[in-house]
Order: sequence, then structure tokens, then C-alpha cells
Amino acid sequence: MKTTGGNEGAKQNAGEAAASLAEDGMTVGLGTGSTAAHAIRALEQRVGEGLDIRGIPTSYQSADLAREAGISLVTLDDATPDLAIDGADQVAEFDLIKGGGGAHTREKLVVSAAARFVVVADPSKEAAVLDRPVPLEILSTARTPVSAAVRNLGGEPALRAAERKDGPIVTDNGNLILDCDFGRIEEPADLADALSGIPGVIEHGLFVGLADEIYVGTDEGVEERSR
Ligand code: 5RP
Repeated sequence: MKTTGGNEGAKQNAGEAAASLAEDGMTVGLGTGSTAAHAIRALEQRVGEGLDIRGIPTSYQSADLAREAGISLVTLDDATPDLAIDGADQVAEFDLIKGGGGAHTREKLVVSAAARFVVVADPSKEAAVLDRPVPLEILSTARTPVSAAVRNLGGEPALRAAERKDGPIVTDNGNLILDCDFGRIEEPADLADALSGIPGVIEHGLFVGLADEIYVGTDEGVEERSR
């Protein structure tokens, strides 16, 4: 599994705490990445003890983990998530950068629909101001015009390369990823609006105004923040 580094024990503590929020009858949005995977494994244990939930996956990865965990899968056409649990690449207050695993389009769809979105992270993800590159999922035919539009906004785009394939990565949706470095993002909502307006951009990895709670795992336990 791809990992963005950080403290695995802290991620596990965050994932287990978020998984404890699931209740019988709930539909749970299942995020992607190493921290969300801890939550899915913690749900597996609870399902084994009799918890009755359905899951809405955000990627092939989370769908596979959920199947292994014995969690029945449904889609947004079948149910609205009561709870969504997902990781982040960077967290500043309640604003996030996501998409390190290239899954942010489906992740945003699921967490936006959820009644409650709990972010799970370890302390390495926290920042005062967002400054990591923002992933854009783009149509493969839109690479040049989107790159020009990103430069006009002051960003520097880089096509995400595959690690065990020559050339770029192709997302679960069959698209490309541009990682766009804007330096310090002082006004994430303004940048999010501008990126959403670029033709050919399917979704960007700025999650502004979506997170309800942030669970930051530590070696000792979990620090919880809510709006
Ligand atoms: C995938 C994501 C992940 O949630 C993000 O990359 C964090 O991953 P990890 O928990 O492995 O650090 O946005 O698209």
C-alpha cells in the first residue's frame, strides 16, 4: 500500500477512534490511504463482533479492504453516508489537501454527501498554513491548457509519474493527475473556486469547509477537534 510516511501507531489510534463512531444501521464512507485503512481494519473487527453497517468505498483500494473486512458495499445511488472517515495529506485548522493517493475525486464526492466527515491523521499532517502541492485530477486531453491556467494562478504543475509503470499514473477514473505547487495557500477557498473553474479539471484536492472533526492520533491516544 502507498504510504505518505508519518507515524503508523498514531494513524492506527486515529483510525480506531473514528471507527468507534460507527453504529448499527449506518452507511459509512470509506476513505483511501494508510490512515483510512486502519479505520477500515478497525471496522472489520467490529463487524466481526456483530456491527451491522454498509460501506461506500472511495477507490479500488478501499473497496478491496472493505470486502476483506466483510463490509457490504453500496453506492451513493443506494444510500447517503451517515459518517465518512478519511485521511489527508495536510490539515490546517479544518481545511485539507487530499489526493496523495489520487483518489480525491471520489473522496470529495463521498465526504460531501456524508452527514458527518471525520478526518484521521497523524501529527505530521498538521500545518499552520496549507503549502503542499494540490493534486488536480484532469482529463488526459486537458494537460496543456490546465497547466497554463495553473501557471496563470501562480502555481507550478507537475504531471504525477507512475512508480511501477512508465509514464504518468492513471487514476481509478481513467484520468491524469497534476500536482500543483502554489507555495503557501493563504486563501484556500479562493484557490479552490479558481481551480474548480478551469475547464478540464475534474476535481482538485483542496477540501474546504467539508471536515466536521479532525482526529489526530498520537503515541498515547487521539486529540479530537470539532467545529
Ligand atoms: C488519497 C488521500 C489520502 O487520504 C491521503 O493521501 C493520506 O494518505 P495516508 O493516510 O496514507 O497518509 O487523500 O487520495
